[in-house]
Amino acid sequence: MAVIIEQPDAPRSRKSAQWEKRAWLFMRISGFILVFMIIGHLTVNIVLPARGVKAIDFAFVAGKWASPFWQVYDGIMLWLALIHGTNGMRTLVNDYTEREWLRKSLNVTLWVVAIALIVLGTLVITTFDPCIDPNAHSYLPDICK
Ligand code: HEM
Repeated sequence: MAVIIEQPDAPRSRKSAQWEKRAWLFMRISGFILVFMIIGHLTVNIVLPARGVKAIDFAFVAGKWASPFWQVYDGIMLWLALIHGTNGMRTLVNDYTEREWLRKSLNVTLWVVAIALIVLGTLVITTFDPCIDPNAHSYLPDICK
């Protein structure tokens, strides 16, 4: 009996080929955007402050997130990096996992963790209130009047 070996690069279906093409494009576009966002992030957090990395403390974060610009900036970076990283890990799992049940379980775990981190991170960025401490006006006079 002849053994038929499927084309190794044959997509499972046309629909999944379309989806994979979009996921591939997303990796390129998000990677491109992330380069500039990460350079901006490191410049503002580490390069520009005179004290370098030592400048990052509670007041520094409170000051940054008092501005809607940095809330949106950090939110976009969080979403892009997590979706990019998780989709990249999905590619690795699909490439190296042989058992279907293991492939599916690892991919489901990846997305559950990513969604949980996106939800928690977005909540932190959007609901962060440094003035919740009644004494906050003494150490954050500019933000908590
Ligand atoms: C400077 C920003 C970044 C750029 C320019 C970038 C670019 C890329 C590109 C173009 C790919 C596709 C590679 C391929 O299909 O052969 C990729 C894959 C990947 N990226 Fe990024 N990325 C960046 C940041 C990140 C971050 C922050 C994470 C983690 C959160 C990450 C995790 C991954 C993973 C796990 C893969 C899959 C690796 C593979 O397919 O072998 N990347 N990246």
